[in-house]
Amino acid sequence: MRTTTSNTIDPACFRRTVGRYASGITIISGHDDQGPLGFTCQSFYSVSVDPPLVSFSVMKTSSTYPRIRDTGTFAVNILSHGQEAVSDQFARSGTDKWARLPVRSTDQGNPLLEGTLAWLDCQIWAEYDAGDHVIVIGRVMELGTTDGHHPAPLMYFEGKYRALRPDEVV
Ligand SMILES: Cc1cc2nc3c(=O)[nH]c(=O)nc-3n(C[C@H](O)[C@H](O)[C@H](O)COP(=O)(O)O)c2cc1C
Repeated sequence: MRTTTSNTIDPACFRRTVGRYASGITIISGHDDQGPLGFTCQSFYSVSVDPPLVSFSVMKTSSTYPRIRDTGTFAVNILSHGQEAVSDQFARSGTDKWARLPVRSTDQGNPLLEGTLAWLDCQIWAEYDAGDHVIVIGRVMELGTTDGHHPAPLMYFEGKYRALRPDEVV
């Protein structure tokens, strides 16, 4: 075990340490007058039930998020097991991220990917400056889950996609 205690935290050590926190993967999506928008996002979490709020953090260098922010709304697509290629596709800046992907639309007009576990459609409720990221809070306006016998999420742990056996309960 390595423990680092210092006012200067090494970025690689920081990433390695927080990479021990397992999460799911989402695509944050939106739509402006130039078409559908989206980026892969691990930092999604739920914040409040009343009012219903969720959050994610986005790098200040993102070229997609400022266009989503301008519309005032976004959707969260929670990826399922087997959607690793979708996650990779939406992590590549400056490409046609929506190529060959079937989509439908929320009431607010945000694109939803097919084959996901669940989705939420939000209005931007607040933004907070946070170092090299912006923390975005969304108020949930509409949401849904996809029915399936054994819904299996796409997981991320130590920088790699992982599988979770949904029938294995501890
Ligand atoms: C597994 C994974 C998780 C990611 N999580 C985040 C995240 O939480 N926040 C973020 O800003 N970028 C995250 N990214 C990186 C963005 O997806 C990527 O920088 C973005 O798509 C860049 O495209 P853009 O310039 O079109 O915004 C993640 C990438 C991967 C592969």
